[in-house]
Order: sequence, then structure tokens, then C-alpha cells
Amino acid sequence: MKSIVIRQPNELVIEERDIPQPATGEVRVKVKLAGICGSDSHIYRGHNPFAKYPRVIGHEFFGVIDAVGEGVNPARIGERVSVDPVISCGHCYPCSVGKPNVCTSLVVLGVHRDGGFSEYAAVPAKNAWHIPDSIEDKHAVMVEPFTIAANVTGQAKPTEQDVALIYGAGPMGLVTVQALKGVYRVKQVIVVDRIPERLAMAERCGADLIINNSAQSLQAVLDEKGIKPTLIVDAACHPSILQEAVNLASPAARIVLMGFSSDPSSIAQQGITGKELTLYSSRLNANKFPVVIDWLEKGLIDPDKLITHVMDYRHVSDAMARFENDQQHCCKVLLTFAD
Ligand code: NAI
Ligand code: MN
Ligand code: ZN
Repeated sequence: MKSIVIRQPNELVIEERDIPQPATGEVRVKVKLAGICGSDSHIYRGHNPFAKYPRVIGHEFFGVIDAVGEGVNPARIGERVSVDPVISCGHCYPCSVGKPNVCTSLVVLGVHRDGGFSEYAAVPAKNAWHIPDSIEDKHAVMVEPFTIAANVTGQAKPTEQDVALIYGAGPMGLVTVQALKGVYRVKQVIVVDRIPERLAMAERCGADLIINNSAQSLQAVLDEKGIKPTLIVDAACHPSILQEAVNLASPAARIVLMGFSSDPSSIAQQGITGKELTLYSSRLNANKFPVVIDWLEKGLIDPDKLITHVMDYRHVSDAMARFENDQQHCCKVLLTFAD
């Protein structure tokens, strides 16, 4: 089989490898579609401190089970599945409180262990989630990015009364906008970014108000309109954003952080405690695959609004280059793995 391998930072190759045999409790997935995510690019460029090389990247993938290991029902062969990349131990403290996404022995497919940019991948059977026939392939491959939004909203619990502010109209901001509007019916969702084309995508994803903060201050625009956000999600993830978010927030607001910067955010406690703000952080997803599959079945979200490119996996270098260099026109890039 062919696999897309990062041999070492900045060296991407399509390598011939043996087709994996599913171990006990695993299934083998014949991959049909996979999505490129910022973290794939980070591993490619050597910017992910958790990554070990060589690595088959890819943690957003969909396919069909074509073999099962011992202890797995052979009736699953032929099943269409999306794969949750989060592999957890099931018994540590975070696992025991429903946060397998921060398991003390967390393994993420495509990061710590070989992932889905491959013609076949062996994965734990319980990570392979059944996709109903009513959900088309290119929606099924988008389950994982939407689980990031499901994890954010699962913690912040949006209501229809919220006035939400989303920083960043990249893939992560856009899935969050769709969840807030389509699932939670939030009254007003505001998106701030610096790229007009991305803001236009946010509008298509349901944003009620878009603000370009490249030439004007976000604070000035919100002040002028008398808007005090009650829920703020940082899907742009610059360390300077937290302080601004605290300043902009309504008293009693919630702020959700998604960033992994190792640079400090400088922040005064008074701003947080004075308004009794709640800070959440959100990493990957905690058992959110069934939640998003349900959203898709009910038509509450529309992955098509994020997909800008579908390319053959053999063109992965070109796909990566577009993804990295053209934020104006590129959002989600899917790779097809044909027969
Ligand atoms: P992206 O880079 O495609 O999008 C970020 C957007 O934020 C860009 O459109 C950029 O123009 C905008 N932006 C940057 N600074 C800004 C500022 N100060 N004000 C307004 N807009 C600003 O990235 P993507 O894929 O959407 O991911 C966003 C972030 O989320 C990344 O930092 C990534 O590491 C993080 N992430 C976190 C996950 C989690 O589970 N916590 C999962 C996936 C991504
Ligand atoms: Mn992803
Ligand atoms: Zn655990």
C-alpha cells in the first residue's frame, strides 16, 4: 500500500509499506477520504513537539472496514466508518471524568501513532464510528473537525440568548460558527478575522456580523455598536487575544481557549474576577463522534461550506502547499484514496 510519510521535518514522501494486519480489538480501514488539518502541516514542518518521525500523518479520515482483528465482530467488515483519532486508556483520572482527550497516556492517530493518510490504517475498533447511509462520504470525513466545535460547545453550553464572538475564520472558527448557529440557535454570532475571503466564508457559515480587525480595532467596533459578548471562542489562538477577550467580555461571560502557543499571555486577574468570567480550554474531542454524526443526520451543520479542494492523494505535496500558502481561497482540503 501507499502511505504519506513525513520522514523528518520538511521531508514528505509517498512510501510503499506493508498493509497492516489489525491486532486484537482493532479493525483495518480501507481509507477513502482524508482531510488536511493545520496540525498535519505542523508535523510536516517540524512544529509539533509531540510528533515522532517517521510518521504517517492524518487524523481526519473516513473509509470502509475491510478486515477485523481478534475479538471484533466480523459483521463489521464492509461498514462505513469515520475514525476518532483519540486513543485513551479508559482508567486514568481524566478518562474517569469523561476527558479521554487528555488521558495521561493519550495517543493521537497521525501524531503519536501512524494515521490516516494511507491506503489502509489499523485502528482500535471502538474508534471506528459507524456512518449511516444518509451521510455522504465527504461529510463523513468532516466529522473530526466538527468534533472540535462539539467539544468547545459541550463545555461552554451556548444558549439562544448568547452573543458569541469567534476569533478566527479558519476551519476551526467556521465549524464553531456552524455549531453555534445550526445546533444551538445562538441569537448573534460575530466573527473577527483579517482576511476578507475568510470572513465571507464565515458569513456563509451563518455569522450574523463579520469584523475585519486588520485596519480597525475590534474593541472600537464593538463599543460603537454597544456589543458585549457573553461567549467568546478563541479560534485564532494568538497569546495576545486572551487579554483583549477579557476586556471585551460581558460580566458573567465564558471564554474558550483552543490555542497551543508556548508564549505567555499577559493578563490581569482583576479583569477576570471583576466580571466573574469563566475560562475554558478545549483540546481535541471527548467522545464527540456520536454527537457530530447526529448533527449531520439532522442536517444541522453543512460541511460543504468548508470544503474548498478535493485532490488525489498522489498530489499531496501540491495540496499541502496550497493549504499552507493560500488562506484566501483554501479552507478544508480533502485527499481521495481511490482503488
Ligand atoms: P487557521 O490558521 O486556518 O485560522 C486562523 C485564523 O485566525 C486565520 O484566518 C487568521 O487570519 C486569523 N487570525 C489570526 N490572528 C488573529 C487576530 N489577532 N484577530 C483575528 N483573526 C486572527 O487555523 P485553524 O485550523 O482554523 O485553527 C485555529 C487554531 O486552533 C490554531 O492555532 C490551531 O492550533 C488550533 N487548534 C486547536 C484545536 C484544539 O482542539 N484545541 C484543534 C485544531 C486546531
Ligand atoms: Mn484536525
Ligand atoms: Zn486515560
